[in-house]
Amino acid sequence: MKELLKDEYDDYLDSFNKKSYKGLRVNTNKININDFLNIFPFELKPIPWTSDGFYYEDDEVSKHPLFYAGAYYIQEPSAMLPGELLPIEENDLVLDACAAPGGKSLKILNKLNNTGILLSNDISASRANALLRNIERQGYSNYFVSVSDLKDLEKKYPKTFDKILLDAPCSGEGMFRKEPSLIKSWQEKGNDYYSDIQKELIVSALNMLKDGGCLLYSTCTFDKKEDEDIIEYALNKFDDLKVLPIKIYEGFKQGKNNLGVKLFPHLIEGEGHYACLIQKGETIKEDSHKELINKPDLDFLKLINKDFYNGEFKIINDNLYFVPFFDTKGIRILRSGLLLGEIKKNSFKPAQSLAMSLNKDEFRNIINLNYNDAIRYLKGETLYTNIENNDYYLICYNYLPLGFSKTNNKQIKNLIDKGWIKR
Ligand SMILES: C[S@@+](CC[C@H](N)C(=O)[O-])C[C@H]1O[C@@H](n2cnc3c(N)ncnc32)[C@H](O)[C@@H]1O
Repeated sequence: MKELLKDEYDDYLDSFNKKSYKGLRVNTNKININDFLNIFPFELKPIPWTSDGFYYEDDEVSKHPLFYAGAYYIQEPSAMLPGELLPIEENDLVLDACAAPGGKSLKILNKLNNTGILLSNDISASRANALLRNIERQGYSNYFVSVSDLKDLEKKYPKTFDKILLDAPCSGEGMFRKEPSLIKSWQEKGNDYYSDIQKELIVSALNMLKDGGCLLYSTCTFDKKEDEDIIEYALNKFDDLKVLPIKIYEGFKQGKNNLGVKLFPHLIEGEGHYACLIQKGETIKEDSHKELINKPDLDFLKLINKDFYNGEFKIINDNLYFVPFFDTKGIRILRSGLLLGEIKKNSFKPAQSLAMSLNKDEFRNIINLNYNDAIRYLKGETLYTNIENNDYYLICYNYLPLGFSKTNNKQIKNLIDKGWIKR
């Protein structure tokens, strides 16, 4: 670090005595930024390099009903940069190659705006489970979660994706302040261990990128062996790559030889990151089409006013899914698309993930709760209403869905997934 930072080395060391910064990113698929700022009860300050990220201080932020409504995701501020930089367009087919626990996948899904497909992958099954929960909580339907070594995906998907995010495993030098336990792992493994892995990963990822596609490579570490050297390695290996310019915000540093940007904790309000955007060949974007898919003939689904496109409804082990058209044969898939609910004999039990994927206009009946009742609902309590009608209702807070319920003789039978809040 001394070699890299020269005169700034003492400032860098000093930054370890300062607090780490906490950030949240608004889920713009659910709520626009102005509406969010109008209802959010805690103080926020914009994160300059994002369109939807804010600093916060209050620990209650992660316990508020709006968090459980998927209105925002908690993410380290500098880790918001890669998702911001990858130029996702609607209808893109996107791979998040090393995705768990998923903060960057959520940003990609926001940018896709309910179009296209995201394949969100991680080699670790336990981490991929956390990834799936995060995606479900934020309520998307156009995604697959796979558990694969990138090398195996590479065989299945040559030149397939329009955009790829490779947020590579790294020695985590930008995490030392927030998670000091990583220092020990750095001492054990060092930079070379990761550098070898990253070289393999970037080659696999680039082989899966379509001509004209873009790849964003990022790490939360500073050593050039894991950052600029990996880009140089890729540039030498492929003859049709170019590094694209990145906007320099206050405190950002250009990477060595202008390869990407570096965020350091003594220069920006965040922990630190490296990001570099690469384009392969020239852009050729095929026209996309939107094929409307009919919902199965189930009474419950008639309450839903949401259109489903470019996929099919599938029943797997008594569960009903909406699965976007995308070939995943031979890949270990943890989740294909949206889980709508369980079909047992003639009854349908709607899933929590279905509730999270809807907006207030997409379900026939809604009940909008105040703060205290929203907290009681999230705790699984039964509530009361003067609604006479016995039917399914989508329970909302600030018109954002929290889960389903069934009214019965003025009682609101709570159908929230019991494990949902604890998970
Ligand atoms: C830096 S973390 C990703 C963080 C994530 N992008 C986010 O924003 O939440 C790197 C991830 O790469 C995964 N990984 C490591 N080797 C891999 C491989 N060969 N193929 C796929 N994933 C891999 C790790 O399990 C880890 O979850």
